[in-house]
This record gives sequence, structure tokens and C-alpha cells, in this order.
Amino acid sequence: MWNTLTMKFGTRPVRSIVADHQQRHIHIVDQTMLPFALEMRILNTWQDAAEAIRAMRVRGAPLIGVTAAYGMALAMREDATDGALRDAHGGLLATRPTAVNLAWALGRMVDHLQPIDAPERADAAWALATQIEAEDVATNRRIGELGLEILRAWHQKHSRTVNILTHCNAGRMACVEWGTATSPVYQAHQAGLPVHVWVSETRPRNQGLITQWELEDAGVPHTFVTDNAGGHLMQMGQVDVVMVGADRITANGDVANKIGTYLKALAAHDNHIPFYVAAPMSTVDMSIKNGLAEIDIEQRGGAEVRLVRGLNRERLMADFRLLDDDAAVGNPGFDVTPARLVTSIITERGVFAPGKLAAG
Ligand code: MRU
Repeated sequence: MWNTLTMKFGTRPVRSIVADHQQRHIHIVDQTMLPFALEMRILNTWQDAAEAIRAMRVRGAPLIGVTAAYGMALAMREDATDGALRDAHGGLLATRPTAVNLAWALGRMVDHLQPIDAPERADAAWALATQIEAEDVATNRRIGELGLEILRAWHQKHSRTVNILTHCNAGRMACVEWGTATSPVYQAHQAGLPVHVWVSETRPRNQGLITQWELEDAGVPHTFVTDNAGGHLMQMGQVDVVMVGADRITANGDVANKIGTYLKALAAHDNHIPFYVAAPMSTVDMSIKNGLAEIDIEQRGGAEVRLVRGLNRERLMADFRLLDDDAAVGNPGFDVTPARLVTSIITERGVFAPGKLAAG
């Protein structure tokens, strides 16, 4: 176990997910340990994949989709019958409700595999999961290129460092590579554009720590702030652009993302700061039009609120208690930012006003 907050990825970046094409199993970074320890886990069965998604060992909408696709491939390796296909699909779909990339990836796997004869399904499933993984890399690279142009235009107009506020982790660990909201940042940094990122803590699970860890590794200037600091920073002129990811976007451009995103969008609107959402088209759910009424917001367990994870004085990972088990707590995992607060949605197919997604 690597036990350090200052851990570097080394010369080769650690990937959130790595498929072993010989053994046909999956290695994942166990993100429940980040950024305090880097531990890999092996997934051998679809039940392992389901457990990893449910327990948030893998998390972030795109990565959940890729892991679920490999989960289906692991299932087909064991048993390629119609019944096994149905069971794996149902079991994986039930893991988390909000990120639509899960249903998208599973639907794609089932649609592809159903017409194929059982003896050929294992190979076909592995090939499609590998393709979905590769597409995620290309998609997020493209989102970064398009987002970079937005940041470049801002810099050309104002001739100073672009201050970007992000929330949660829409970074490499939420995807296969690049991230969604962080992809423009990485590409701007690589292109020599001066950027600085305000990283929002994101209680209760503190995914902002993962973003901080990624940016530190990439050498991108950044400052970690508590969730409540965002509005103040915007009022003080210290945020030029808000850039977040998404878990589900409706046809009209309402955006479900990590709890706290809506408050950032309100503050951005009040301060005339552009609010960008960076997400692949697989995050767009064209079947719904009203985010508040139609998106299932995950209600998570109270332990995440009552306890907080960190390092103790000996620098060992530990959970610290804030509240007793009988304290009443609420823990909605996501919120919905209405389309009217969203400036544009950056996808691999182009940058769209929220109401114009159908054109993509
Ligand atoms: O609960 P999580 O950690 O899976 O939530 C992640 C987020 O809300 C991200 O912002 C979103 O999935 C975009 S990830 C590219």
C-alpha cells in the first residue's frame, strides 16, 4: 500500500481501469482509498464489477459505463446464455441510479450480444467492452480540444490566467483518461495557456481530493477550497469560468451532477460567469425533458455524512466521526441544474446551447 498524500503517478499515469486481455479480467484503482492510498483490485466476475460500482470503488459517469460494459463481458465468459445476459444486465443496472452512462453502456452491450449465438458471445462482449473503453478516451480528448478553444478565446480577450472553478471529480479517475471537465484544463496547460483551477471539496465523499491529486500530478496550478467558498470567489472576481461534468443531461439541457453543482450554477448566473458542462453524448438522456421531475437522484447512506475519511496523526487512513449513528442526516448524491443556468454543453460532437442538444 502506498500511503502518502504526495504520491505521484510516476512517469506513467495510473489508469482508472486496465483490462488484462490475456487473462480476461479487469484491474481497477479502488477509489474509496484515494488519494490516501493507491490500491488496485481485480474484477473477475460481473458481481465483482457490480460491487465495485455500488461501493464507488469505480465512480464517475463515464467510468461506471466502461466498468459495466466489462462486467457484461466477464459475465459472458462464465455463462453466455440468454438468462445469464439478463441477470448480469439487471444486476449491473441496479447498482447506481443517476448516471445514465450505466444504462447506455449496458444497453449497447445487450443490443449487440442478443442476436449473436451463445458460443460467440464471450469474444464479442470482450471486443465491444474494449471498444467502449477506447471510445471513452477519444471522446474525452475531443471534449478537451473543444473546451480548450473556449479557454483560449477567454485568454485572448483578457490576456491573463484563466481561473476555472470545478466541482467533484470529472477528471481522469471518473473516466478512462483525460476526464470531461478537466480535459480542457489539461490540454490548455499542455498548450502553454495559463490556467488555475479552484477545486471544490465536494462533501460528503470529497471527490475534490481526487481532482486535486490529479492536477498536482499533472503540474496544473490549482487551489483546493471548501464547498461554500465558490460563491464568494465568484463575487470577488476570482472565477472566470465554471466547468463541471454531468451524470445525466435531459434533452432540453437540464444537468444532473454531483450535489452542490446547482448552487455553483446559481452563483455563476448571479455573477455573469459562464457555466460550462463537459460531457460525452452518452450522458445525454434524450428520452426525458424535465430533470427535476424525471431524474432519479441517488439517496446515499448516512455514514458518508456522519463520518469523514482522512489521515490520522500517524498518517494512516482512518474514518473520523462527526455525528453519532442516531443523528438524523440526509445525503442526496446529486442535484439538477436547470438548463437556463447552463451556458453551453461541451460534447465530443460540438459545443451546444442546452436547448440545442438534439442537433448533436
Ligand atoms: O458519485 P460520483 O463520484 O460517481 O459522481 C461523479 C460526478 O458527479 C461527476 O461530476 C460526473 O460523473 C462527471 S464525471 C466525468
